[in-house]
Formats: sequence, structure tokens, C-alpha cells
Amino acid sequence: MTGSGHFLEESLALAARLPQVDLFLSAAAEEVLPIYRLPLETFRPRFRVFRDKTASAVPVGTLYDDVYHTVVVAPATSNTVAKCAYGISDSLPTNMFAQAGKLGIPGLVFACDTEPVVVTRSPHDWVTLRPRRIELDNVERLRGIAFCQVVCSPAELEAALAARLHDLSLAWNTSSS
Ligand SMILES: Cc1cc2nc3c(=O)[nH]c(=O)nc-3n(C[C@H](O)[C@H](O)[C@H](O)COP(=O)(O)O)c2cc1C
Repeated sequence: MTGSGHFLEESLALAARLPQVDLFLSAAAEEVLPIYRLPLETFRPRFRVFRDKTASAVPVGTLYDDVYHTVVVAPATSNTVAKCAYGISDSLPTNMFAQAGKLGIPGLVFACDTEPVVVTRSPHDWVTLRPRRIELDNVERLRGIAFCQVVCSPAELEAALAARLHDLSLAWNTSSS
């Protein structure tokens, strides 16, 4: 998870329906969650949570234990999209993405700034943003990165996750607890 308010709740709702998810937060994600009244404590019963507290992204070592089959970056800020597109790894999500790619583990990135006009929920109101050419170009560049699939809406994310679950012979959670 990154520090994006856009499609934050939608991404979390999908994460809750997935079997066996661990959350890897950027420092910005940890700040943004409580702003949207989603304190970290609310996730702990359901998810194992890794916080961005080390310079070298120590929790990324979990990828080498051969337990993860997919890395999902959702929602992905423009910042994280840019870093992933250019091979920069300096946060937990960007390190997870890059290391997963190097290990041949599929990555799925929910890029939020993908349209010329984006209407997003700020903590107090709805705001209209106009992503610049650079943000749109970065999304296109990211599409060319190996072991990466880019999705641009909650519906696309759900469809990509459903396809991945199907490939892995797994199923959505049916219980809400
Ligand atoms: C309340 C709040 C909401 C934000 N929402 C977004 C967003 O929807 N998209 C975005 O690209 N950045 C958003 N940001 C800015 C990012 O959090 C900021 O660029 C941060 O440096 C991203 O770091 P990360 O990519 O490592 O998570 C938001 C910031 C705040 C405080």
C-alpha cells in the first residue's frame, strides 16, 4: 500500500476478500490511512502488517522464503508508479515490486492517475485533479516493465485478481470476518 487516498477503500475492500494477504506499507501509507479514519490497528486482526521502518527494506527478505506468489501495489501513488517505472526502489512497496520482478513473481499495480481528469476523495471533500503528461507517461512506461500488469480502476483490479486466483486454483474469501 502507498500513500494514496484515491481508491484506498476500494483497494482495501478487495484485499479483505483475498486469501492470505500481508500488507507492506510505505511511510506515506501509514500517514494517510488514519487521515481517512483507517488506523493501522484495524488491519492487524486480519492482515500481517509490515511498516516502512528500515532504509534497506528489510521485510522484502520475506520474498525469498518462496511464500509469495503475487505482489499487488494498490492503490499506487503517482510517486510509486514513477519509481516502479524507472526501477527506483526506496520504499517498502517499490522494493517489493522490484524484488518480485527480479524473482519472476508477478506484480500487479493499480495506478490511480491514469485519466486526463480524475475525481478523487480528499479527506474532507471530492476534488478534481488533472494528471500531467508526466504522470500519464509514467503509467505507460510501467506497462513495459517485466512481470508487471497495470490496472486502472477497481473493476480492472478485481478482474485481474480474479484471473490470478483462477490461475493459482485459489478463491475469494466468502467470510466477512
Ligand atoms: C490525505 C492524502 C491523500 C493523498 N492521496 C494521494 C493520491 O490519491 N495520489 C497520489 O499520487 N498521492 C497522494 N498523496 C500524496 C502521497 O502520499 C505522497 O506523494 C507520498 O510521497 C507518496 O509516497 P509513497 O508513494 O511512497 O507512498 C496523498 C497525500 C495525503 C496527505
